[in-house]
Amino acid sequence: MIPVAVLERVVALRKALHHHNHRYYVQDDPEITDAEYDRLFAELLALERDFPELRVPDSPTQRVGAPIAEGFGPVVHGQSMLSLSNVFSAPELADFDKRVRDRLGCEKVTYVAEPKLDGLAISLRYERGLLVQAATRGDGTVGEDVTANVRTIRACPLRLTAAVVPEFIEVRGEVYLPKAGFLVLNQRQAEAGARPFANPRNAAAGSLRQLDPRITATRPLSLFCYGIGVLRGGATPESQDALLKFLTSLGLPVNSDRGVVQGYEGCLAYYEDMKTRRALLPYEIDGVVYKVNSLSQQRMLGELSRSPRWAVAHKFPAEEAVTRVKGIEVQVGRTGALTPVALLEPVSVGGVSVSHATLHNPDELARRDVRIGDWVAVRRAGDVIPEIASVVKERRPAGSEPFVFPDRCPVCGSPVVREEGVIARCAGGLVCQAQRRQTVRHFASRRALDIEGLGEKLIEQLVDSARVKTVADLYSLSPSELAQCERMGERSSANVYAAIQRSRATTLPRFLYGLGIPQVGEATALALAQSFGDLEAIMSADEARLIEVPDVGPVVARAIHAFFTEPHNRAVIKALRTAGVHWPVRVGTTQGPLSGKTIVLTGTFTDMSRDQVKALLMARGAKVVASVSSRTDWVIAGRDPGSKVQKAHELGVPVIDEDGLKAWLDDRSPKTDSR
Ligand code: IVH
Repeated sequence: MIPVAVLERVVALRKALHHHNHRYYVQDDPEITDAEYDRLFAELLALERDFPELRVPDSPTQRVGAPIAEGFGPVVHGQSMLSLSNVFSAPELADFDKRVRDRLGCEKVTYVAEPKLDGLAISLRYERGLLVQAATRGDGTVGEDVTANVRTIRACPLRLTAAVVPEFIEVRGEVYLPKAGFLVLNQRQAEAGARPFANPRNAAAGSLRQLDPRITATRPLSLFCYGIGVLRGGATPESQDALLKFLTSLGLPVNSDRGVVQGYEGCLAYYEDMKTRRALLPYEIDGVVYKVNSLSQQRMLGELSRSPRWAVAHKFPAEEAVTRVKGIEVQVGRTGALTPVALLEPVSVGGVSVSHATLHNPDELARRDVRIGDWVAVRRAGDVIPEIASVVKERRPAGSEPFVFPDRCPVCGSPVVREEGVIARCAGGLVCQAQRRQTVRHFASRRALDIEGLGEKLIEQLVDSARVKTVADLYSLSPSELAQCERMGERSSANVYAAIQRSRATTLPRFLYGLGIPQVGEATALALAQSFGDLEAIMSADEARLIEVPDVGPVVARAIHAFFTEPHNRAVIKALRTAGVHWPVRVGTTQGPLSGKTIVLTGTFTDMSRDQVKALLMARGAKVVASVSSRTDWVIAGRDPGSKVQKAHELGVPVIDEDGLKAWLDDRSPKTDSR
């Protein structure tokens, strides 16, 4: 029995949270502080935890769901999602307006003018007020089901708020990333050593197409609604203006920077106004949209195959300016990726001074053939890294040479390795100054040398103060040096010190994985260790020998070979060995936390091949066999498992799924840890 007081409180909390969410994300006008909101949220979360039967899908706590295993399913739109035709100039706009007037046989037309957001079109289905499905535009007829991800967008109501809601409505709108959110996201990408998104549109699209809604939930996406598809059980408004007000009344976010304008002149005035306001808007736009206001006139005009006759997008001219390339610099990112950057004579592009432009990668640079001394058109797509739109080949100075991409890292001098795809990477992972923090973090991570307590902040201080230049320096740190770091008490520094000492005894696969060799993950490290048996053999193997290892193809072999032939890396490995890093247990022996256990695998696994799972289990001492019997200790079942699961149930053998397996492999407890 749930006490009435609890029930009432849950209802009141949900109502309050919906209200404040709406004030904050839709109306942009919060009434309470973030801390107060968090308190209410935490209270509801606690009540729903204590009384799980009270959880409902539209609770404010239920925005982030489980990963989507099978990819995005298809969604057939109730009414197709059209695109817009474009005009780029005032005369083209005049032509559009004339066509509309001629067809309607009237003097002047009333339009609604709206900002054209640069995001992703979305269709939201609400049934009796409840959000039941969200789909991308796709080809206009069939889109992809991205419900789980759209639910994480706080501006998107999980339930419509009006007293009377339509029985069924398809709401159309744009998912976008506000400029501020884009900057935050790219900052985070940079901190994680990941590539920044080129523009808010790409970032929004990438975020919405994540299979794991937990990732989407961390992306500050937002939403504006601007139209409808099918509507049942409610009166259709008579104009676009009334429609937008209707959507607002349902609790949906609608852009207030719109206007009702008269005729061509009104459209043009709106366009000019938005063009000047563009830089100050909190979201990116690439133009404006004019829609015939009267819906009955819209119906009279009808549509062409892909776009309506009653609307048009008036695009802003691309923000471009021509300038000269002073030089080309190759920058090294935190993961060792090399990015060529053009250094430019500063030029104003859309009011912002631009002095450098990304050339993305060596292939792109070669394809464009950008040379020092060239005149180039520079483009800025919003508040993002500017790029080179084109090279003015006619103005190329005589005697210029194509840029030769360096084969040595400009930071540490190690060789540059070309990976599959377009990335060029510095092979000096263990020594390159640009990569130090990341290298140490990886080396200390749980699945590598597992140095507990050596966290990000501590690593940052040790690396930035140059106390730790390579991972080998960790082993000469004293407790007092650790204690000098910020937020390190005597006790925590003693603990970290002890963890560093303990990490000296490791396993060869952990050690190999911890070196952070490009392309070498945990499973490949294991395969290398099993195939060669000792480190020296791996270090002196040529590419042909490396390819013989299961899991290792030509690209991986090249990366491994390059890593071990780099003298600096060899020196660090030697220093690690001298510092006492060793592996007391040989791989291939059955000693391990799963020694004596018999395991059967069935089905397919999402993140690993079956062979990789098998190898990881065997490294922990398990025996992996083909069929289930009463002697089987566990069955591990991936997707679409066969009859083995049935058999296991019959024999009372415990069955573990992929999540369970991962938790197991991650587990620090001695029962399943491979140390
Ligand atoms: S109306 C039938 N209104 O632009 C009308 N679209 O180039 C279809 N867009 O697919 C769209 N802001 O993703 C409309 N205020 C706005 C818009 C807008 C952005 C996008 C939308 C559409 C694309 C067409």
